[in-house]
Amino acid sequence: MKCVLHIIFAFICAANSAKILGIVPTPSYSHQIAYQSLWKELSLRGHQVTTITTQPINDPKLVNLTEIDVKHLQTNSLILEAVTDSGGNTIAEVRHYFQMMIQAIDAQLDYDPIKRLISDQDENFDLVIVEYFFGSPLAFATRFNCPSIGMVSVDAWNVMHHSVGNPTHPILYPDSIALFPQTLSLAERVANFFLLYFCRAPL
Ligand SMILES: *[C@@H]1O[C@H](CO)[C@@H](O)[C@H](O)[C@H]1NC(C)=O
Repeated sequence: MKCVLHIIFAFICAANSAKILGIVPTPSYSHQIAYQSLWKELSLRGHQVTTITTQPINDPKLVNLTEIDVKHLQTNSLILEAVTDSGGNTIAEVRHYFQMMIQAIDAQLDYDPIKRLISDQDENFDLVIVEYFFGSPLAFATRFNCPSIGMVSVDAWNVMHHSVGNPTHPILYPDSIALFPQTLSLAERVANFFLLYFCRAPL
């Protein structure tokens, strides 16, 4: 009887554990650290977690966590530079940030361990969790034909709110990607409106 119970229990546990792919493409410590407890805790609860990260936890005790370290691929430095280089000009800042992220994601997709992950026909995941500043990592959910979750560790951009149906209004609320103050001037409202449409292009 005890044995049967053990088998049933093991079966229930197995049914409750998932293979999860976590992707945080932004090469910035503060972006990565925000999700580390989640990867750690999911793996400790018996889920098989694989992450693509520029800041691996590197804890050998986390046997259910496999980290694909992409830190060395970054030729570009920090996002902070993108903001300071732009001299407070929102459009220049956003463009710089997009260019940096497109380069980072391109380099990650071109990295052999990730190419192998994509092309391995025996590989499968039950869930893909992505840092949702860009839509492109969601392609992994299409590749593995599984549900996806988008996460952000700060306020999402208006375009991201827009893409999941959250109400937002560019005339009323400054985009979190922009350097606008909380109360917008008329010119800032117009710029904020165009920013939303400009940001939709790479999605
Ligand atoms: C690893 O996952 C298994 C189930 O898949 C679980 O029984 C075990 O406790 C986990 N180990 C650690 C150290 O997270």
